[in-house]
Amino acid sequence: MLSYLLLFAFFNSSRSQAPTPIPAHNLTNNTHPATVIYQYPPVTWVENIGVRPNGLLLPVTITSPLLNQLNPITGSLSLVYDFSAAGNAIQSITKIKKDIFIVDVTTCNLSALACTGLFSSWEVDFRLPGTESGRAKVRKLAEFPDAGFLNGMAALNPRMGVLLIADSLLGGIWRLDTSTGATELMFTDKSMMGSADIAFGINGVRVRRGRLWFTNTGKGTLSWMPIDPVTAQRRGNATVVADGLLGPDDSELDDAERNAYVTDIFANQLLRIPTEGGDVEVVAELAGPTSARWATCRRGKANLYVSTSGGFLQYVQGNVTVGGSIVRFDVNS
Ligand SMILES: *[C@@H]1O[C@H](CO)[C@@H](O)[C@H](O)[C@H]1NC(C)=O
Ligand SMILES: *[C@@H]1O[C@H](CO)[C@@H](O)[C@H](O)[C@H]1NC(C)=O
Ligand SMILES: *[C@@H]1O[C@H](CO)[C@@H](O)[C@H](O)[C@H]1NC(C)=O
Repeated sequence: MLSYLLLFAFFNSSRSQAPTPIPAHNLTNNTHPATVIYQYPPVTWVENIGVRPNGLLLPVTITSPLLNQLNPITGSLSLVYDFSAAGNAIQSITKIKKDIFIVDVTTCNLSALACTGLFSSWEVDFRLPGTESGRAKVRKLAEFPDAGFLNGMAALNPRMGVLLIADSLLGGIWRLDTSTGATELMFTDKSMMGSADIAFGINGVRVRRGRLWFTNTGKGTLSWMPIDPVTAQRRGNATVVADGLLGPDDSELDDAERNAYVTDIFANQLLRIPTEGGDVEVVAELAGPTSARWATCRRGKANLYVSTSGGFLQYVQGNVTVGGSIVRFDVNS
């Protein structure tokens, strides 16, 4: 698989607005209060975050196969599970049911900026006595020998345990039944495929009320598509909400789906994009943001946790100076 190699080629050729490296955590000009919850050492690319009902975080990294639990108050990190028998990278994590998460494991070579390993999906179940300490029951659900590059995941139907997984290279959506382990490539669509310059398309996904929201890194878009909430069949064409983005990685929606918070990894920005049109707001400048997740919401206020890679360009140039991080933003929802 050449996913990141393709991104590399893309940097060297196509886009005129080449991103410039910025210092990590240049948060002083941010429009929302921000706190660095955890700073990882160099060569740590945090790709995604799970949020447990008890408020503990499950950040995953493509630079390590260790699933850790992070206490956002104390900043202490503890091991939940070592996936090194299945790969060296955890590509994504999402909640499927209350305190049950699915993680995707594969093998990457950061020097080549490529992930060529077999993708496998695992269930991490915290519904055991004493799980505050991070004890979890872990089992393999499925392998994906025919996948291109599995990326973002979202629960389609938590009651039935159905999960959707974006395939960045095939430009489509896989369905995983977490109760049987059955997998199926549901569909591919042009809106989910990359651009002529870069084959890396659909990246982050969220499901809300019969809509599949997705970013497309190659096309620089945020879109949604109507889908069946049980079968995952598509029910229409995609609607593009925003285009012209430099490198949208993932996005998170507010409750009313009025705003999408997009992590633009190439622009080094967290963006707020009104889904019905309007001005895009730069919420923050930070080094290589990869994903965003809500934590506990209090009346009109919410915390948005953002994971970072330390800056994509560092990896492209082999010039890794600062690791990834977890940053918390206070946002009016
Ligand atoms: C490494 O990155 C820093 C800042 O991101 C930059 O100032 C420096 O020139 C880079 N060095 C190389 C060799 O690319
Ligand atoms: C990783 O990629 C680098 C650069 O292409 C290569 O030299 C190295 O052999 C690769 N490592 C493995 C384990 O494949
Ligand atoms: C979806 O797009 C295709 C191709 O552009 C078009 O033929 C079809 O009519 C569209 N469907 C809907 C429901 O708009």
